[in-house]
Amino acid sequence: MKKVSKGYPDAYHVPVLYKEVVESLMINPNGIYYDGTLGGGGHAELFLHKLSNNAVYIGIDRDAEAIEFAKKRLANYNNLIVYNGTFNMFESAMKYAGVEKLDGILLDLGVSTHQIDEDIRGFTFRPGVPLDMRMNNSDSLMAADVLNTYDEDRLIKIFKEYGEERFSKNIARRIVKRREDKTITTSDQLLDIINHSVPGKFLVKSYARIFQALRIEVNNELDILRDALEQSLIYLEKGGRLGVIAYHSGEDRIVKEFIQRQENPCECSKDLPYCVCGKKPQMRRIKPYPITPAAEEIAENPRARSAKFRVGERI
Ligand SMILES: C[S@@+](CC[C@H](N)C(=O)[O-])C[C@H]1O[C@@H](n2cnc3c(N)ncnc32)[C@H](O)[C@@H]1O
Repeated sequence: MKKVSKGYPDAYHVPVLYKEVVESLMINPNGIYYDGTLGGGGHAELFLHKLSNNAVYIGIDRDAEAIEFAKKRLANYNNLIVYNGTFNMFESAMKYAGVEKLDGILLDLGVSTHQIDEDIRGFTFRPGVPLDMRMNNSDSLMAADVLNTYDEDRLIKIFKEYGEERFSKNIARRIVKRREDKTITTSDQLLDIINHSVPGKFLVKSYARIFQALRIEVNNELDILRDALEQSLIYLEKGGRLGVIAYHSGEDRIVKEFIQRQENPCECSKDLPYCVCGKKPQMRRIKPYPITPAAEEIAENPRARSAKFRVGERI
């Protein structure tokens, strides 16, 4: 029996809701699983430990560094197939793995602790960090490009929609003014703009919200998520499960509404005695509410506190 490391052997990333994820998604020990956010391979290791040698586990990540790390960590498992790309690339990843249908899909959204800890990647609001934020280093758009080229209205929209930031207008206005004098390239410059746009007591939350909004924009996170959810219907076997962990209310709303729509797709007026649109349910929720971490998990891993895990079963 291979040795499994308590779910979180190192500082790369502690997998969130690891027991709940495996319990909810691993319905067949000989099945085919698609982990769209392989990251440090924490969830993957827990699955691989329980799956039989006949199972297939496809691990996708858009970050080549994460792929390399997970490949080394999971080198003992020969039923792991890794693929460097975005998690909506089902067709090419599954062709590469030689499979046609899936028993389970896991999407653990956002960034890993490792990505946040590496200053050079630019995800953190520690001072002196370049405003990069690309999950894939070969993508072209960086956070600095957004800040220096988007017009004021577009910046406001991003900060409001992706960051839910109350002071979006003040911040966007100041960004546009500041960049007339000097290109914005580092976290210090952005922090200083926020410091001058937001009342003191809201500052830290505003830093987090603005950095999150930029990250979502740079990586086109919500469009890729919507696309992957729709495609999951094509690739999941009947009885197969889709599980998504979201840490951001906008992402969670997209997941929740998607699963609800698949459970109850009928678009007919309530006044009609029967359905005429003919749309049939494609999924059922395994629970009517999201699964959230217990207090002990949050105490051990504070990053888990905002996690919401939703699971839909293909019917
Ligand atoms: C929260 S971490 C996943 C951690 C992983 N579950 C573990 O236990 O180690 C998210 C990972 O997903 C990757 N990622 C985020 N969005 C992605 C996307 N659209 N396609 C592929 N990978 C993505 C990030 O690069 C990061 O490595």
